[in-house]
Amino acid sequence: MADYKNVSKLNSIDLSSPHIPTSVSLLKQACMDSGFFYVTNHGISEEFMDHVFTESKKFFDLPLEDKMKLLRNEKHRGYTPVLDELLDPDNQLHGDYKEGFYIGIELPEDDPEAQRTFYGPNLWPDSDILPGWRETMEKYHQQALEVVKKIARLIALSLDLDANFFEQQEMLGKPIAVLRLLHYGVLGQVSDPLKGIYGAGAHSDYGLITLLATDSVSGLQICKDKDAEPRVWESVEPIKGAFVVNLGDMLERWSNCKFRSTLHRVLGNGQERYSIPYFVEPSHDCVVECLPTCHSKENPPKFPPIKCETYLLQRYQDTHADLNTYNKPSI
Ligand code: OGA
Ligand code: NI
Repeated sequence: MADYKNVSKLNSIDLSSPHIPTSVSLLKQACMDSGFFYVTNHGISEEFMDHVFTESKKFFDLPLEDKMKLLRNEKHRGYTPVLDELLDPDNQLHGDYKEGFYIGIELPEDDPEAQRTFYGPNLWPDSDILPGWRETMEKYHQQALEVVKKIARLIALSLDLDANFFEQQEMLGKPIAVLRLLHYGVLGQVSDPLKGIYGAGAHSDYGLITLLATDSVSGLQICKDKDAEPRVWESVEPIKGAFVVNLGDMLERWSNCKFRSTLHRVLGNGQERYSIPYFVEPSHDCVVECLPTCHSKENPPKFPPIKCETYLLQRYQDTHADLNTYNKPSI
């Protein structure tokens, strides 16, 4: 299959480099071309990443019955079974052949902010069953946010904004950040685009920045021109120690389409594959409105302003099965 041989050559940004103009220029080029790039020397050790993946696998190895006890709730926390998510209804026969686990920003039930759509307590596996699991995931959640903040500084510079633009309180000061553990190839399924069977159907991410950690199994593909007929898919190969980063639709919208959010999908080759995307968006109330450096008289804003929360909620509802299908009262 020609599909598999077409490897994408993405820029790689060294987050420890003191040569900021070089990093900004590499990043800008990547963001305008596909919105996909690698980051290296990001400050999270390979040992810790290996540990996070080991723990993720332990969760998915639990009996389905135990995992279903943690079925995702209305706040998008918890377990998503195989076929729960349908990303590309026009081309998919049914949902994605992957199972997942959502972990958001943890706030106790009695925190006033816990009422916000994307805030609140997480669902956690019992510590008797998976000791230390929660602590590992919470630590990774925090460390991943620091990496995203470093990337956001470079993105701001490449959009001619102040380096700390995205660090403002209403943006990444109070982010919506969701860690998602994923497990593909649960039953050894091989994807077959002609039959509408995918690990993850073609989609673009909703938010600002996605930091993706993968194991060494290939499967991720991107399509830079979604309107091309036929679509050309390039594979994004895993690089040990590097994250794949991609921009989401919210940043595409914010930048008036200067920066791109690219269509991507995952094809299963029969092997099991584990990945951990970390989706980061600004605060619930952040109004996403064409950035000052991205419009001019000749290039007026293409989209009306929208509140981050409203935008995200709609996108989640569009892509996930109705909770009632699980015969469980929603929480
Ligand atoms: C996603 C996604 C890619 C992967 O979850 O949005 O694109 O490699 N994941 O799992
Ligand atoms: Ni994605």
